[in-house]
Amino acid sequence: MNKRAIITSALPYANGEIHLGHVASTYLPADVTTRYLKQKGVEAYYICASDDFGTPILLQSEKLGKTPQEYVEHWNKRDLEDFTAFNINFDFFYKTSSPENISFVQDVFSKLYDAGHIYESEITQFYCKTDKKFLPDRYVKGSCPYCKAEDQYSDLCESCGKVPEEIDNPKCSICGQPPTKEKTKHYFFKLKNFSEPLYKWLDENQNLQKDVKKYVQNWIKSGLVDWDITRDITWGVEIPLDDANGKVFYGWFDNHLAYISTALKFLNDKGIDGKEFWNSADIYHFIGKDIVYHHYLFLPAMRIGINNEFKLPDFIPTRGHLTLESKKISKSRNWYIGLKEFLGYYPADYLRFYLISINPYSQDDLNFDWDEFATKINSELIGNIGNFVNRALGFTAKSFEGNIPPPSDYEQIDNDAKQKILSLSSELDELMSQNHLDRALKKILEFSAHFNQYFQHKEPWKKGPGTDTCVYLSVNAVRSIAISLSSFLPESSEKIWQQLGLSETPSKQPWETISELNISSGHTLGKSSPIFEKIESEDIKAHKNKLGTKNL
Ligand code: 2FM
Ligand code: ZN
Repeated sequence: MNKRAIITSALPYANGEIHLGHVASTYLPADVTTRYLKQKGVEAYYICASDDFGTPILLQSEKLGKTPQEYVEHWNKRDLEDFTAFNINFDFFYKTSSPENISFVQDVFSKLYDAGHIYESEITQFYCKTDKKFLPDRYVKGSCPYCKAEDQYSDLCESCGKVPEEIDNPKCSICGQPPTKEKTKHYFFKLKNFSEPLYKWLDENQNLQKDVKKYVQNWIKSGLVDWDITRDITWGVEIPLDDANGKVFYGWFDNHLAYISTALKFLNDKGIDGKEFWNSADIYHFIGKDIVYHHYLFLPAMRIGINNEFKLPDFIPTRGHLTLESKKISKSRNWYIGLKEFLGYYPADYLRFYLISINPYSQDDLNFDWDEFATKINSELIGNIGNFVNRALGFTAKSFEGNIPPPSDYEQIDNDAKQKILSLSSELDELMSQNHLDRALKKILEFSAHFNQYFQHKEPWKKGPGTDTCVYLSVNAVRSIAISLSSFLPESSEKIWQQLGLSETPSKQPWETISELNISSGHTLGKSSPIFEKIESEDIKAHKNKLGTKNL
């Protein structure tokens, strides 16, 4: 395993609150993976930033009478607060509008330009004579040619979800006047030039998901299209050419470069040679399936275009979208649950547990269902893990004053239980290293279920022969659970650790120690109490009723 890693997750637009859909596919899996890598002794850094530029953000800030800087500053701060409350533990959270990113983007552009990967071309665009500006898609509204809904953006009908070729009755969204069509000079990135190296890179990289690779390679076969990287607006990274005055880069030209510029700032500030670190580390970009094109084609092509100065990603874990009660999440239709709102109801670990358990390493969509959430928490997290932890520690406190006895005789059932502890770290490791976080969590549940049965079978409350062994093994199994849960449920694993009376934190325990029986006889436990609280069905009913009724 590479001893260095940089982990990123798709940068959130600084344009609204983080909701459950965001965290399910990218931030949570990336956070769990980073925590796991750190436990494995990897020098791993989780880097993220707010995605600040682009037309929708400019438009929204204008609508609210704020400068775009003020507007993105607000969301940058709020996003980080929400992520932090969910225990998403970024090593550094910055912004695409940072001075470091702006100069990095301009530098990359100049290199691509000098290498002949950029060309100019005239395009025809909507223009508003009243406002005297070109109108990118988001600035033009009209009626949808498909479903006839009025007042829709020209690049997306929020009513039927289609992307119109050309909107009917176009109007400038600032002044309401019909726009004209004018010619304007734009810059294009020659994505087509990179078909061959991209195809080869996809072929050679064995860490990428096979199904995604396959359809990306099919895109290449059917012919790539060059990318228009210019926008005629005022909010973006300025194009560093004398005759490109008033033009900025399209947000997707600059945002992914912030993965690198943000990592460099963080590492260089720490006194580490950022570029050397980047090029010797495993690079992970966690994304949702809607931005596959950008990450499997555009991003690597730009890196290849500057002579691989910064290495290409090793892993691009790509997951499906979250639906909510089986319906597509939609902010505009008020069908979403904000992360902050959710964390007002339940602990972060409940959501982390549920979202990981329903989230396979694939592009299949996953569904948030309030009833299933309650069932999983009550029967799996509490009924299985919480129950075993409480039983083992509670019994030891009551019957042994919290002092661990020396193990005595080992029957077959004890040997089997011990073997479960000895093999847990490598079994989990195999799943975690292959991104199967859901299966790893399931394995921990199986481990806990095994020990629940073991405890039940041994009946230590009867104080028969072998009771000491049962207590000794069970308490050590609780310790294994605490360490292996720490990347998934950091707060709960910390609580278990304290109840075990152990020092340091579970997250600081080297991975292999999951399979060590490090709690010896004579050790005294801390105070034991239930780790989790049951979810009540009336509350779930109320949450369901509230869905879709928020005032936007
Ligand atoms: O789709 C999005 O939400 C974008 N803000 C993701 C950007 S990721 C990039 F930076 F590569
Ligand atoms: Zn206008």
